[in-house]
Amino acid sequence: MPLALPAQITPGQPPTALAPMQDITGASFMRLLGRCGPPDYYFTEYYRVHESSRLDVDIARAIELNDTGRPIFAQLIGEDPFHMGRAARELARLPIAGIDLNLGCPAPKVYRKNVGGGLLRDPAQVDRILAVLREESPGTLSVKMRYGFDGDENFDTFMEMFARHSVDLVSLHARSVRQLYRGSPDYSYIARAVNALPCPVLANGDLSSAEKAAAVLAQSEAHGAMIGRPAVRNPWIFRQFRELKAGGEVFRPTLADVRSYIELLWEVTDEPGLSDDKHIPRMKKLLNFVALGVDGEGAFLRAMRLSASGAELMAICDEHLVNKGRSALPFAPDAHPNLIARPNHEGPLEDSCEG
Ligand SMILES: Cc1cc2nc3c(=O)[nH]c(=O)nc-3n(C[C@H](O)[C@H](O)[C@H](O)COP(=O)(O)O)c2cc1C
Repeated sequence: MPLALPAQITPGQPPTALAPMQDITGASFMRLLGRCGPPDYYFTEYYRVHESSRLDVDIARAIELNDTGRPIFAQLIGEDPFHMGRAARELARLPIAGIDLNLGCPAPKVYRKNVGGGLLRDPAQVDRILAVLREESPGTLSVKMRYGFDGDENFDTFMEMFARHSVDLVSLHARSVRQLYRGSPDYSYIARAVNALPCPVLANGDLSSAEKAAAVLAQSEAHGAMIGRPAVRNPWIFRQFRELKAGGEVFRPTLADVRSYIELLWEVTDEPGLSDDKHIPRMKKLLNFVALGVDGEGAFLRAMRLSASGAELMAICDEHLVNKGRSALPFAPDAHPNLIARPNHEGPLEDSCEG
């Protein structure tokens, strides 16, 4: 029997989770989301487990400094059952809600080593890893996956396997590994997982607004929603989802709210002694997402990409979000169509789950 998940913020509502995102979902970003309206659950970015791996300091910090009041799952990625078990024991000493196994990372450098999404080609190895993790994880055992590597040939095998190992939670990004982030997710796989599994399923992939998340959940009957990039664009999305489900008024941020959010992002991405030439690229990575909701012509997106200093970036933010009466304008509840977050990274990033 799957274990019960930790209680949601609003009992009875579908649970929400922040999707793990490398270099984004650390302690400070989780705390920032806590101020905007946190998800029910957090997941750390993946901890790469191998023969000589030791617990990543930033991941341990994200867990230990988590003062949001919301439970956090620690994600592992690796291929060796013995070392995955060792890592699970290491993590069990920290205040985590459970362990999450990464079966979805589509980066070629990762999947070629038969880890992350690569393991979807090798059900027998996943079986061995799950046996060990089930043994070593007294808390919730969770799996985050894509529906398959090339196609869905192993999908049913995995569903049967997860049920057999009493996996407690499955988060499904409804794309294949080969698809990377291209094309639309196929949410029919979420419905298939819901039908096949005794445990809750979180739908993941392009749940770009509270309304879209509610629609996908209604259509697939998924238990909850896991949201990544849309939460970077719109940090109020979890609160909006709860308000929508409660049938009350939904918070609609203005561009002034977005300007304040950008100020917080500046703090989240800062660290003592960090120079502008290192800080600005970190900010641009996040603002690429935020800009998708600012204006449909992409004027802010283009302008912020050209900034070279903190002062210049903040002046551009004021120009596009505050000046000339802009501060009262609504921030779009969904990304403007035809704007692309990362035109400089159209190809797969070799070693990042962004793929
Ligand atoms: C920058 C970035 C880093 C990511 N890092 C991870 C990771 O460490 N582990 C993981 O399981 N997925 C990772 N992902 C995938 C997300 O968790 C999520 O499955 C994917 O972005 C689809 O959801 P979304 O459309 O809500 O963003 C990452 C995605 C992005 C954009």
